[in-house]
Amino acid sequence: QKEKRNLIDTMVELLPADKNRLLQTIGHIADEMNVNAFLIGGVVRDLWLHRKNEDIDITIEGDGIAFARAAAKTLGGSLYTHDSFLTAKIVLSSGQHIDIATARAEYYDAPSSLPKVVRSNLREDLYRRDFTINAMAIHLNEASFGTLVDPFGGEKDLTNGKIRVLHNLSFIEDPTRILRALRFEQKFGYILSEDTLRFAKKAEPAIIRLSTDRIKAECTRLFEEVTAVATFQRMYELELLSAFIPFASWSLSSKRMLENLENRASMGNIPDVALFIPLFAFQGQLQHLSRFALTKSENQLLNSFSRLKILNEPTLSSLGSLHENIHDIENTPLLIFEKYVEISKNQDFALLIKEYRKKRHHIPSLLTGDDLRALNLTPGPQYKHYLLRSECLWIEGKISNREEALQWLHSRVK
Ligand code: CTP
Repeated sequence: QKEKRNLIDTMVELLPADKNRLLQTIGHIADEMNVNAFLIGGVVRDLWLHRKNEDIDITIEGDGIAFARAAAKTLGGSLYTHDSFLTAKIVLSSGQHIDIATARAEYYDAPSSLPKVVRSNLREDLYRRDFTINAMAIHLNEASFGTLVDPFGGEKDLTNGKIRVLHNLSFIEDPTRILRALRFEQKFGYILSEDTLRFAKKAEPAIIRLSTDRIKAECTRLFEEVTAVATFQRMYELELLSAFIPFASWSLSSKRMLENLENRASMGNIPDVALFIPLFAFQGQLQHLSRFALTKSENQLLNSFSRLKILNEPTLSSLGSLHENIHDIENTPLLIFEKYVEISKNQDFALLIKEYRKKRHHIPSLLTGDDLRALNLTPGPQYKHYLLRSECLWIEGKISNREEALQWLHSRVK
């Protein structure tokens, strides 16, 4: 029999000392309670690949909730239990989370529905997971601390760069796994096994039944990877893009715009829905994106972007006309529109928007309501009109201080 791999050296190398001590303590508590404790999930795969990942997901062969109670006593911190899922979470005073689950099997009554959960052993627990490379565990009990448990050939697939499902219904039970598969493919430079690809292509009826928020959540994880563009390209080539995101299209323009938006560091915190815009804007399908705008701020962003998109360029040919028409539009949609214009229309217009975006933050208040009252103007919409006009003149460089603004006002009112 092949000797089992032990990852203890990698754990010592990649995990901070306090995490290693924590894992050892978990192993000791498990010994005392006479149960088996395992580190499971993506962190096992990442340790094997020598990638940093500090998630602590524990599975207990035995009563996970009772284990979590005992562990919370020893470790301190707050305990949260989720009895129907047989899971618990400990939040330590350092802020560190430990997720603890009872080894369990899941049964689906209907495809794409939430599963029923029953207590089981580690093998079955791993079997309900997505891919062989994610279905490995590290034993934490003292006698076998660090031993890799790999019942489904995850190690072999890691060596050969394969993403492989554990059984033929995996994608039918949870079609978001197809998006995960494509994400892992690009992230690790792997490829789907032949069977896995075939199962993905056959899962379309289940994909169509998925809820918008699950698709959106998984796509958002795709967008977060530096390989997002390659993943969407692959999704398009496999003819899966429109199954997950109806009416989305993929072109050189969408690719370039997504690449630009991906550089999020320079954009601040943009709502998730913004990253979908490149998939809809170029083919005039923006109205279909509204199903992915789940929050109020996302809706506002889309509305503002749509408003900008239908404005016609000739009326926006100067800084003043831009300010007059779009002064109420927030920075984020304006920035996204700028990226869109850069790719779809002309560079000069994009540069003008950029200049406007920068200048509008520095507009001084040259006039006040008092100035208008002093001219016996009755308060009402005309106040707003004069104040806005003076801002437009300033941004165009036609007036530069209060004196010139008053002069202009007097010439207009008299
Ligand atoms: N999982 C699954 N099916 C899903 C989502 C998750 O089987 N649709 C399983 C996988 O085995 C995964 C584990 O749950 O390893 C934890 O999920 P998550 O934290 O989302 O994934 P990671 O593999 O840790 O991925 P990442 O490295 O991107 O965080």
